[in-house]
Amino acid sequence: MKRANHFDTIADVFNRIWYFSDDYKDFIISHIHTDLALCSNDILADIGGGTGSFTSRLADEAHLLRAYCIEPSSAMCDEAAKLSNVTAVCSDAYTFLASQVPFTKMLFKEVIHHINDRENFWKSAYKSLPDNGKILIITRPQNIAFPFFEAAKIEFSRNQPSQEVLETQLRHGGFFITSHQRSHTFTLAKKDWYTMLRHRFMSDLGVFNDQEIEEGIVEIEQKHPGETIDILDNLIFITATKQL
Ligand SMILES: C[S@@+](CC[C@H](N)C(=O)[O-])C[C@H]1O[C@@H](n2cnc3c(N)ncnc32)[C@H](O)[C@@H]1O
Repeated sequence: MKRANHFDTIADVFNRIWYFSDDYKDFIISHIHTDLALCSNDILADIGGGTGSFTSRLADEAHLLRAYCIEPSSAMCDEAAKLSNVTAVCSDAYTFLASQVPFTKMLFKEVIHHINDRENFWKSAYKSLPDNGKILIITRPQNIAFPFFEAAKIEFSRNQPSQEVLETQLRHGGFFITSHQRSHTFTLAKKDWYTMLRHRFMSDLGVFNDQEIEEGIVEIEQKHPGETIDILDNLIFITATKQL
């Protein structure tokens, strides 16, 4: 549970430091809505749903029957529990699946690199889902386009499974796969980007000490003069459908 502890340390600032833009959130939400074909009969399991902010918007906008935010970091889960339209479950993905709580759609947004033994997980998930049930993974390619310092890019790549591996594992689990690569660019004040880095907004940054983060920021500063920084987010959306 080493990585969940990382999120315990940033739970209170998570929504603020992960704030990109309303456009960015709308872009993500609309694709989740479409890729998962969400409708009012659906029960959503948002695995590693963090503070539940995306779970809550999806519950609201798709009029979901129920929306679970499954989150092993108790500090993050406590934030999700404050949302009236979300059922917060303080649990990891494996425990939730083993509990046999029914669900029709499952979301992994920026979480899949935390899930080990995915092959067995998909086999169980396949059994639990109804016909036409869907899983959506939103993740990033191993070569991240974010303006990180070099050591952070290497660390990210080391922790990140490739798209091919993820797709193959899902196919072995019995699922039919469709994938899309989608990008969103936004501009941040550099001071805000550096605040996100200093808070280690991604768990990959958790291995760097304060001095290494400051040295990394100097490295970024040399490549990006000016007050603002353009952030290109290349995202991979993998939809897995149970088709009998
Ligand atoms: C980058 S955050 C993403 C949060 C949320 N999905 C979002 O996009 O706002 C990754 C989350 O995965 C959770 N996590 C880590 N290991 C997990 C596991 N084994 N099962 C479920 N969630 C896990 C972490 O606690 C953290 O909240």
